[in-house]
Amino acid sequence: MRVRGLRRVYGDVVALDGVDLDFAVGTFTAVMGPSGSGKSTLLQCAAGLDRPSGGTVRVDGVELGGLGERRLTLLRRDRIGFVFQSFNLLPSLTAAQNVALPLRLAGRRPSRGAVRAALDRVGLGERAGHRPAELSGGQQQRVALARALITRPAVLFGDEPTGALDTTTSREVLGLLRELVDREGQTTVMVTHDPVAASHADRVVFLVDGRVSGELTAPSAEAVAAHMAGLERGAGAGGSGPAAEVAGAVGRTGDAGVTGGAGRAGVVVGRSSSC
Ligand SMILES: Nc1ncnc2c1ncn2[C@@H]1O[C@H](COP(=O)(O)OP(=O)(O)OP(=O)(O)O)[C@@H](O)[C@H]1O
Ligand SMILES: [Mg+2]
Repeated sequence: MRVRGLRRVYGDVVALDGVDLDFAVGTFTAVMGPSGSGKSTLLQCAAGLDRPSGGTVRVDGVELGGLGERRLTLLRRDRIGFVFQSFNLLPSLTAAQNVALPLRLAGRRPSRGAVRAALDRVGLGERAGHRPAELSGGQQQRVALARALITRPAVLFGDEPTGALDTTTSREVLGLLRELVDREGQTTVMVTHDPVAASHADRVVFLVDGRVSGELTAPSAEAVAAHMAGLERGAGAGGSGPAAEVAGAVGRTGDAGVTGGAGRAGVVVGRSSSC
């Protein structure tokens, strides 16, 4: 996926101001930045949920701007997965029925096997008959992930997918996202405010005022927190927010020992269109 010169203007608010980014197949990118910096707008435009005011978005070889509503809807349904902070599951439906719902609404009838396979991919094959109220927050988000993944989308987007979860459950979902990238080459783009969450990604892109202000590759939580603290100081926020507080937290889950901390991070300052 690639975006070029992406702009989104709402009235006199410039939410995105010329964003150029590449998202290589099979990579996991975190998007961070102060509140209002354009993170959700970037995801919505990249996912074809919102039409940009300018610039281009190419997903899976297709320029979204050239598509009419019908073809855009089909591409969104088949090639794009999206999960949100709130899991958006229907409480009266079982996990399996929730996973099948988007396809059923589109007039398709996914087989039980396909639904079960989607739930298996997120480790919930045994919970197919459970309703959301009978599942933990992390399990509910995993059902939402299964629903997003059932079509095998080219890109999975998450807008603060762990924002409503406690630390332990959040790590569980992040571990799963990482596994989907490593095991299945699932291209993934996730907005997060949490440096530890971002450290699960291959790279972090920082947005400020609708522009890319920098990137970190192989990010450690410490490096991300330090970068965010700098951005918040730059924005006059004093640098004492949550990002600053987690400086010193552990690096990416699964790293051997503590040597994988800040030393692994490669800092790329300024815009970069390579990946
Ligand atoms: N539908 C809309 N109508 C008007 N303004 C909007 C709309 N959506 C977003 N904006 C504005 O665009 C800017 C970017 O918003 P966006 O939601 O992308 O920020 P964000 O980085 O996701 O913030 P947060 O971290 O708080 O979720 C903000 O100034 C916001 O008020
Ligand atoms: Mg947002």
